[in-house]
Amino acid sequence: MDIQKESFGKLPDGTGIELYTLTNSKGLKVRIMTYGGTIVSLEVPDRNGKPGDTVLGYDSLDGYLKNNPYFGSIVGRYGNRIAKGKFTLDGITYQLAKNDGENHLHGGIKGFDKAVWTAEPVRGEGVVGVKLSYLSKDGEEGYPGNLSCTVIYTLTEENELKISYEATTDKATPVNLTSHSYFNLAGQGEGDILGNVLMLNAEAYTHVDKGLIPTGEILPVKGSPMDFTSPKAIGAQIAEVKGGYDHNFVLRGGGAGKLELAVQVYEPTSGRVMEIYTTEPGIQFYSGNFLDGTITGKGGKVYQKHYGFCLETQHFPDSPNHPNFPPTILRPGEKYTSLTVHKFSGK
Ligand code: GLA
Repeated sequence: MDIQKESFGKLPDGTGIELYTLTNSKGLKVRIMTYGGTIVSLEVPDRNGKPGDTVLGYDSLDGYLKNNPYFGSIVGRYGNRIAKGKFTLDGITYQLAKNDGENHLHGGIKGFDKAVWTAEPVRGEGVVGVKLSYLSKDGEEGYPGNLSCTVIYTLTEENELKISYEATTDKATPVNLTSHSYFNLAGQGEGDILGNVLMLNAEAYTHVDKGLIPTGEILPVKGSPMDFTSPKAIGAQIAEVKGGYDHNFVLRGGGAGKLELAVQVYEPTSGRVMEIYTTEPGIQFYSGNFLDGTITGKGGKVYQKHYGFCLETQHFPDSPNHPNFPPTILRPGEKYTSLTVHKFSGK
């Protein structure tokens, strides 16, 4: 197992960005940069052991700075949308930045995906990793409290990529951290993801309005195109979902803080399998609907509609405005923790 560190260029203000490469001895290799705590590449062996990069992104820092739909980013302080960027907490109404029409999305104009994280390598028995830290200041994007965050990425010899999140605050604040990789298990840029076969361990999803804001209703997936309780190609019923999939699924085992199976994806041509386990109660399944061929990514690949899917483990969107959703408020003295494990195999 190995950890390598190199430079990945500089921000316009001269800040140096570091790139960490983690490898295990089974052919799994992930590259993570300090800008946005971003997963830049994720090489996974196929059924014959041949490695392929399974996530979308750019070859160099420049692309990430110019036009980045959250490729591989850490998302925060609050993943997904908060209606009108507004919520009331302990009698005070807070106004967050609006960056998605009238709503707040993925932490605002300068969310955690655009922060420069401090990195240090992590070594343990059978694991290599990188620990990233970021202090989100009181008032940043409108949020209350200084939020001190760490995200630890580790690779194991069982072909797992673990993402472990922690945060503490000095004022009550909503927190909902996630990771925004766009996957294609056939290989990044190798066509669309409609043939990737997905199982989502969810019997319900949160219903949304036109602006993708939850109405508060939790609907059963049964008998609808949202039903992935048995494995199904992503494309099988996508035409029946207006705009494509962009929904928060309510995980069967989720929310009790125990690591539970949320997802299994199988890609028939490569034989790659990815399982996702999480302690979170929800997962946003987004089928890359807004990709439209205007981005040229790694290796000159043009990313068309549905060229990647995201599976963002999370608390439900807009939870601060829905008392019936699992709570997302972190208070001084408490610790936010969240763990997601991606396990890779071939068949
Ligand atoms: C999330 C959202 C989508 C979209 C993408 C980023 O998955 O749910 O609506 O904003 O992020 O493009």
